[in-house]
Amino acid sequence: MKRKNIKTKAWIAIASAFIVSLIVLNGCVESKKIADKSGAQLWAENCQRCHNTPSPASFSHGQWVTIGMHMQTRAQLTAKERDKIVAFLQQ
Ligand code: HEC
Repeated sequence: MKRKNIKTKAWIAIASAFIVSLIVLNGCVESKKIADKSGAQLWAENCQRCHNTPSPASFSHGQWVTIGMHMQTRAQLTAKERDKIVAFLQQ
């Protein structure tokens, strides 16, 4: 009886480890999808939630850097996403 208990516990441990690794792997796939997005895509998806999307020509290169930092906090973007959006807006 005792031995069976240990086996069951081992199986539960293996099954949990498997499920956890699946979740972790899936998480990586998800974040890779976000990482694959272009600046234009991120801009279209994030910058019109609160106001009209200002066109890239509206501001100078330097102004976009400042706006990027300000809107990064507003839109809760990562630094990488902000850099992509700013690079797109500076084109
Ligand atoms: C959570 C809401 C929100 C999101 C998302 C957001 N903004 Fe803003 N934005 C604001 C608010 C509020 C202002 C007014 C200035 C301030 O922040 O006090 C503003 C102002 C601006 C301005 C200045 C407009 C002007 O004429 O002076 C620009 C440019 C701008 N946002 C660009 C962007 C870009 C680019 C993005 C995407 C990265 C973005 N915003 C995402 C809320 C947001």
